[in-house]
Amino acid sequence: MDIKVVKFNEYKEAAEIKAILMFEAKEDFHMKFEDEAINNAISFVQENKEFSGKKGEIYTVNLLRKEAPSKIVLVGAGKGEELTVETLRKNVGKLVKECIKLKAATLEINVPALRKHFDMELAAKAIGEAVTMATYNFDTYKSDKKPVNLKTVTLLCCSQCDVTVLEEAIKEGIALGEGNLIARDLVNEPANILTPAELAKRAEVAGKKYGFEVKVYNKDEIISLGMEAYMAVGKGSANEPKLIVMKHLGNQENPEDIFGLVGKGLTFDTGGYCIKPGQSMANMKTDMGGAAAVIGAMSSIAKMDLKKNVVAVVAACENMISGEAYRPGDIIGSMAGKTIEVLNTDAEGRLTLVDAVTYIIRNEKATKVVDIATLTGAVVTALGSAAMGVVTNDDNFYNSLEAASKEVEEKVWKLPSFDEYKEQIKGDVADLKNIGGPKGGSITAGLFIGEFVENKPWLHLDIAGTCASEKPPTEYHSSGATGSGARLLYTLVKNQ
Ligand code: BES
Ligand code: ZN
Ligand code: ZN
Repeated sequence: MDIKVVKFNEYKEAAEIKAILMFEAKEDFHMKFEDEAINNAISFVQENKEFSGKKGEIYTVNLLRKEAPSKIVLVGAGKGEELTVETLRKNVGKLVKECIKLKAATLEINVPALRKHFDMELAAKAIGEAVTMATYNFDTYKSDKKPVNLKTVTLLCCSQCDVTVLEEAIKEGIALGEGNLIARDLVNEPANILTPAELAKRAEVAGKKYGFEVKVYNKDEIISLGMEAYMAVGKGSANEPKLIVMKHLGNQENPEDIFGLVGKGLTFDTGGYCIKPGQSMANMKTDMGGAAAVIGAMSSIAKMDLKKNVVAVVAACENMISGEAYRPGDIIGSMAGKTIEVLNTDAEGRLTLVDAVTYIIRNEKATKVVDIATLTGAVVTALGSAAMGVVTNDDNFYNSLEAASKEVEEKVWKLPSFDEYKEQIKGDVADLKNIGGPKGGSITAGLFIGEFVENKPWLHLDIAGTCASEKPPTEYHSSGATGSGARLLYTLVKNQ
């Protein structure tokens, strides 16, 4: 997909579809284009009250002619003063889906009154993001594939706009969109294909494409590193665990300042001997959604060459059943040296995450850590699929997350982390136990990881509710994986 910016007075081509972003204001309907057929169409739909510019409205007019544009699509932007980046993303998402349905190869987006109400740089970024994301469709395994014809999208800006600035904004939007799609693709991939080894390979492919370093450690190396909790989870599977370490060292001036990202990478979670019922297990290929978010974010970070040092770690494995698998009641060690009583083999994510957190702090010298994981069903009960649950030890860090969250519209909600909850995971026969009982399950799961962060500023993001969805959550999504967390992590790192 090619997304370009051209000043409207220098635009010499014509796309098959001419989209016009229109506000509810009457004067917008009196805007004149050179092409009389378009002016007539706009007057006609307004007079007949078929389109009024309301937020989310979309109206296609077929000009019934061969020459381009052969169709115009009017997109309602609502009231100018109420326009948000997210409305813009949703509008563009809807528009792109309409163009795909119409099988068009070229689209031009006219935004005649946008500059009056909105920052054009923000708008260009949102357009780059939404165009990229809205074209996605997971059809790898379909015999009957529906190709996307759309190849070129041109944003027409006004003569006062700085094209170079807008191009750079679009580039960032595309980088964010691509990071999100990498995450979606990984989550949509079934577990028979996406084993820990395959996940590692895909991280390497992304690393080559976007320019970040990837190193993969095998089972023996993981054992040598002392990652006993991680190994306990992974050893039941015939598909060996792979520890994936990714790096983008973009700030040579402050080499000590290292942002650590840790993603849960269970390529499948059966629950282990505390086996999940069929209905709950059905979607457990998505249990590497945290890993996907981290790989997607690293791709965007490297593509934009952010002046930040970022290390990302995924302790990839499968939670399976076999003669080698761990049991409820087992007491296991961890890389940090703390012992853990495994009271439920289905609370496996936290066991892999704590070793990844220790590794990133001790071996990679991360100075702050964010972990992201499809960790608990309890977070789905608490927050549904609209927001991720967050546990933290640092309110300033949380405030930065909240600010990033507003930029990308990936919602977050802070859960309390009072000492009372910490009591629930204190061990009876070991230092810790891996479940804290039925109450406050998302909090105790998060705080379990918090026991390993060695006083570093830390955020834990539980994306069990936001990672995948039966229905597209917005106009720029499709059903299945959402890519939850990739754009959020990029933005958080960038703003730090
Ligand atoms: N992978 C699951 C959490 C999950 C649930 C992800 C729903 C996506 C959708 C996790 O490993 C798990 O099984 N958690 C248990 C913890 C319990 C045993 C304390 C849960 O939530 O039931
Ligand atoms: Zn589980
Ligand atoms: Zn899990």
